[in-house]
Amino acid sequence: MDEKRLLAALSGLPVGRVAYFASIGSTNDLAAEWAAAGAPDLSVVLADEQTAGRGRAGRRWFTPKGSALAFSLTLRPENLPNCDPTLVAGLGALAAAEALQDLYGLATQIKWPNDVLLGGRKACGVLAEAHWLGSQLQALVLGIGINLARSSVPPEEFLSLPATCVEAETGYVVEPAALARAVVQSLLAWRPKLSEQEFIAAWEERLAYRGERVTLSAGPETLTGCLLGMEPDGRLRLEIASGKIRRVEAGEIRLRREVDSAGK
Ligand code: BTN
Repeated sequence: MDEKRLLAALSGLPVGRVAYFASIGSTNDLAAEWAAAGAPDLSVVLADEQTAGRGRAGRRWFTPKGSALAFSLTLRPENLPNCDPTLVAGLGALAAAEALQDLYGLATQIKWPNDVLLGGRKACGVLAEAHWLGSQLQALVLGIGINLARSSVPPEEFLSLPATCVEAETGYVVEPAALARAVVQSLLAWRPKLSEQEFIAAWEERLAYRGERVTLSAGPETLTGCLLGMEPDGRLRLEIASGKIRRVEAGEIRLRREVDSAGK
């Protein structure tokens, strides 16, 4: 990643503190430190390489040098109409999906709650983490990782879901600075609408596996049924075998298309 280009691409946007690192542990960790130290809303930490990148449910997230876009934003609660981390993660996924579609004409889907898929494979992951001081929510740190070049796609044995990268879909390596700008712009446009149906509808419009049979594991419970869509509050709506409707919160869930979960 070219630091100058990245910083230039974000200039002119209403971002807070911005810093780029050639290598870092995790951009989410530094953004959390910044948040605790009082960094302004929309501060951005970007890195070319992460040596301890984190994903959901304690999984690792690979960001090898020169291969991906990895960054974290500090979102202050006073500028968030809703501080539910699931909605905020959905905001990140929608922004990344929109940017990939607008810039490169890629058809994007969101595997609920917040994996962005290209051609049915995961190309982008989002991690929203709430940071509290006692009972006071200080900030939500929203980390976004987008696989750009083929070298960003981890080996099969590390994957819980088939993965891909933007290069595999476009046929060329894209410019991270332009993509970072487009993601932040989309995020800025959607953030004020986080509590509105327009936001849920845009998220739901990209929902992967809609109308298909899926398996959802939430702790010890496994649900199988037809994925109907989303609820106005962002929960997933599932018609389970008995014909009953279940509404599921994100939490630590694993969502699989039936055919995938049977094949693995
Ligand atoms: C997932 O799909 O499990 C979430 C992956 C989130 C990865 C991003 S990359 C930038 C930020 N820093 C991290 O350590 N994780 C997030």
